Amino acid sequence: MFSSRINMINTLWFISFIGMAITGFFPLILGNTTLNGWWMILHVSIAPLFSILLAIGALHCAKKMGIDFKDAPESKLSRIIFWFFLFLFIPNALSILFSMNTWFVSSTQYVFLEVHFYSAIGMLLLVVLHFNFSRKNKG
Ligand code: HEM
Repeated sequence: MFSSRINMINTLWFISFIGMAITGFFPLILGNTTLNGWWMILHVSIAPLFSILLAIGALHCAKKMGIDFKDAPESKLSRIIFWFFLFLFIPNALSILFSMNTWFVSSTQYVFLEVHFYSAIGMLLLVVLHFNFSRKNKG
């Protein structure tokens, strides 16, 4: 019962992450310079769901991954991927928060937007790496 709930949370988290990636990158691929219109509405509407599911999933997985790298059951690479992903979420979320208020001059806000963009690329690559790695582990 508990594990099926966790599986459901992980699946929903993954779907919301894909939603974030599509609504974030797709408009840029289509030629827009920034997010606007429905892309922006969708992106920021999925964001709270994504963040809550990430927090729940991370709390559960942190136990499995172990902060102590010595005696955790998972392989070293998957633990590095996991912790690095969580670490990247900090600049990803804070940068967009800081880019959207007037605490900083507009050139700094622009740098924050770049941080959001590059940390998003990093997170996407880590997710791809994770799935590639776990597929290879299954044989
Ligand atoms: C806490 C979660 C997040 C929030 C609140 C958020 C919010 C936003 C907002 C408001 C923008 C528009 C910024 C602008 O054009 O001025 C944006 C842009 C973007 N977001 Fe997110 N986002 C989050 C997480 C993510 C994630 C997880 C990804 C992808 C994995 C992502 C990818 C992008 C991309 C690629 C852009 C376009 C950046 C650019 O125009 O250079 N975001 N985000």
